[in-house]
Amino acid sequence: MANLNTTDSDPRDAAERASRDEIIALQTQRVAWSLRHAYDNVPHYRAKCDAAGAHPDDLRHLSDLSRFPFTTKADLRDTYPFGLFAVPREKILRLHASSGTTGKPIVVGYTRADLDMWADLVARSIRAAGGRPGMMVHVAYGYGLFTGGLGAHAGAERLGCTVVPVSGGMTERQVQLITDFRPDVIMVTPSYMMALLDGFTAAGLDPRACSLRYGIFGAEPWTNAMRREIEAAFTLDATDIYGLSEVMGPGVAQECVETKDGLHIWEDHFYPEVINPDTGAVLPDGEKGELVFTSLTKEAFPVIRYRTRDLTRLLPGSARPGMRRMEKITGRSDDMIILRGVNLFPTQIEEMLLATDWSAGHFQLELTRPHRMDEMTVHAEAKPEAFAGLALDHAAHALAHHIKATIGVSSHVVIHPPGAIERSMGKARRVIDRRPKEA
Ligand code: DLL
Repeated sequence: MANLNTTDSDPRDAAERASRDEIIALQTQRVAWSLRHAYDNVPHYRAKCDAAGAHPDDLRHLSDLSRFPFTTKADLRDTYPFGLFAVPREKILRLHASSGTTGKPIVVGYTRADLDMWADLVARSIRAAGGRPGMMVHVAYGYGLFTGGLGAHAGAERLGCTVVPVSGGMTERQVQLITDFRPDVIMVTPSYMMALLDGFTAAGLDPRACSLRYGIFGAEPWTNAMRREIEAAFTLDATDIYGLSEVMGPGVAQECVETKDGLHIWEDHFYPEVINPDTGAVLPDGEKGELVFTSLTKEAFPVIRYRTRDLTRLLPGSARPGMRRMEKITGRSDDMIILRGVNLFPTQIEEMLLATDWSAGHFQLELTRPHRMDEMTVHAEAKPEAFAGLALDHAAHALAHHIKATIGVSSHVVIHPPGAIERSMGKARRVIDRRPKEA
């Protein structure tokens, strides 16, 4: 278990205070263990390594990892459900699963030591976000096979907080519980936080007067513009939490509240690489590409060079000097929209919407192909106080013009009245693709 001994004056644990050299030494030792563990106990990994001519004994330096094959979602699908587990099923205390866009879900498992490590890292993440033992934490990530709810829950308990396990949905009741119980911290997707904001307004309550001081938002891409919006609406400090089921769940990386400058990857347990998604070449720190993780301590479900499809770049540590940061994720390679040859991500539209004085931050992008050409319609919802007096045509035209000038694509913009855009209870659905499927 990580050393959770921290002091009031320095909330960081021993690993968070370690130097870069100490972290690299630890990683070199742990990567060797993890490769050996996967090779010895997972026939699929052994076969892939053998085919690539890579053997765990060949690893001398962390850079030698690049000789080992990548793992992708396809490996998880091909071995569904338990084929990548490295321990007997009886040693697995918990399963989680995440539904893909197509076909079977992917299934991951945890031993007792894995659950302990996960709880430690989420506790560390909550602390980095400003949470302290004794605080009350409202968990509105979904509970169940999704890792968000139970992952956040165990971490908050581990830190010594009072947990309110609300899960997602039933917005009115959430608003009531926040008002009555007075939690200090909320853990929820940023898009559902915006739905809670509507809930406060609908109940005639001032969200700025509520008790929340720290918000820990993740599970989907969101922008710094959205951070400013949420912080101003609730007067709280908002930080970003990242993770994925295949690597663990929430708490793989977390932004520190004192700097809010990207997410520190908990590098004592996960080794990150950023690669060129087309060639697979490892990119130097600072260059943008696809994030890849190797787990260093996981027993049940070790991952070797797992391709996340998330796009970001690695930056040097700041508030935690030994561990590198990842820049806020702009999107997944799967979410990238290619419109008449121009690449764009929903987060770019979010940023532009939130720069207007009328947008409520709820939006969806609809893709169609009416005349063999792809078209994009931005469906955006106006704030209640802005909608009545808004010159709709003018505002829509101005936004379309801004999108064209900044990203270089023409789009239609439709401004909707308050409440018209679908609310998610968890991850928001930003893109509705109505283009005919290729044969
Ligand atoms: O979303 C784990 C999680 C739960 C993270 C709660 C944070 C908070 P999955 O359902 O497996 O796991 O989805 C993982 O979600 O590959 C990213 O594309 C996206 N994602 C997660 N966190 C962030 C974030 C959880 N902070 C996938 N920013 C990942 C952007 C994120 N995208």
